[in-house]
Amino acid sequence: MEDQLAELVAAARAARKHAYAPYSQYAVGAAVLTKTGKIYAGCNIENAAYPSGLCAERVAVFKAVSEGERELTALAVVTANLGSPCGACRQVFSEFAADDAVIVLAMARGNRRQQFTMREILPARFTARHLRE
Ligand code: THU
Repeated sequence: MEDQLAELVAAARAARKHAYAPYSQYAVGAAVLTKTGKIYAGCNIENAAYPSGLCAERVAVFKAVSEGERELTALAVVTANLGSPCGACRQVFSEFAADDAVIVLAMARGNRRQQFTMREILPARFTARHLRE
């Protein structure tokens, strides 16, 4: 798992280089690991019409799901300063993640890291179960 997480962080770091963030100047790279062992990466993509942009985490999740993956076991996010996924991205990742899925935050430069489980980062989350029961 540690090796896979290191690889996931490296993929997020590489994706961050493609961040399109001319308005905020805040570059984010993200990568998700699938249960099948594949990695999908994304970056934030801003737009002159501000709300039309998308966070790096959702780009990565949507890439994975659009390739047929529905079980995500880890998410890595790389920013300049250990920026943490926004609420919308937590909820979107949650849709495809178990309680013990791992979220790793890493720095673009420097090796400080923070690690959470899905349960920790989005407690009492709303899931499909609520719609069924
Ligand atoms: N951003 C992300 O990509 N992920 C987050 O979880 C937080 C924010 C992006 C959106 C925007 O392009 C920039 O960072 C500043 O908010």
